[in-house]
Amino acid sequence: MYDDSTVDIIPLDPNKYKKLVFFTGAGMSKESGIPTYRGKGGTWEEYNYKDYACQVAFEKNPNHVLDFHELRRKEAKSCQPHLGHSIISRVEKNHPDVTIVTQNIDGMHQRAGSKNVIELHGSLWRIRCDCSGVREDMGETYESRKCLKCGSWLRPDIIWFEDLLDNNVISKATNIISNSDLFISIGTSAVVYPAAGLPMTAKMNGAHCVEINLEPTNISSLYQDNFLGKAGDILPKLFPV
Ligand code: APR
Ligand code: ZN
Repeated sequence: MYDDSTVDIIPLDPNKYKKLVFFTGAGMSKESGIPTYRGKGGTWEEYNYKDYACQVAFEKNPNHVLDFHELRRKEAKSCQPHLGHSIISRVEKNHPDVTIVTQNIDGMHQRAGSKNVIELHGSLWRIRCDCSGVREDMGETYESRKCLKCGSWLRPDIIWFEDLLDNNVISKATNIISNSDLFISIGTSAVVYPAAGLPMTAKMNGAHCVEINLEPTNISSLYQDNFLGKAGDILPKLFPV
């Protein structure tokens, strides 16, 4: 277990690896100003997800749930990707096979220039309804809260609690991770499954596994390298220019 402040971090050479995966959680966006979900100041400390982030709540009071998600869109728009996001997109640009598998719905990786992003839990910037499926909606507020064609409430294309992940998305991520040889987890408490099971998939398939997190997690022992600290402090040391 390393502590950022005491040990010189040995840079990683991406070119030594064939298939890189960055696996990110809410801690990756914390330095951009977006709160994490758990712990002090976490979103679920302030808002009960049963009232704001599940299908039952949406059916009971769609406006209430959409108001909450508009708040999160406004928040994300008022924030910028940080150096850590830029470093990941730089590594992606300079290597033939880099994938970002994220639990985040804020779109920060894409705003930092990352292209190959798999969003396990959906996106704040997409909505859907049964008649026309999923489509983008990029404004601070929703263009419309009801579908102009079928009249039904438009549901944010986000994986809420009790939702199953999209099968295509999770199997694509699992396939890529099981073939990766460098797996870097950044800013996740690793308590929400099936996402939290993906590091073990990487490990079981022989990837070199690295964890960057502000605090130890339940699965820290799984990793060959653990860097305790902020993503924005550690990534520049791991991937110096
Ligand atoms: N750099 C690195 N790690 C950080 C930083 C930082 N600057 N700030 C916080 N962290 C760490 C925290 O120590 C914590 O372990 O990031 C982790 C964030 O954990 P959670 O808030 O639980 O977020 P996450 O793991 O992404 O949540 C998973 O839960 O609520 C659902 O669907 C939602 O995708 C989300 C899923
Ligand atoms: Zn419709």
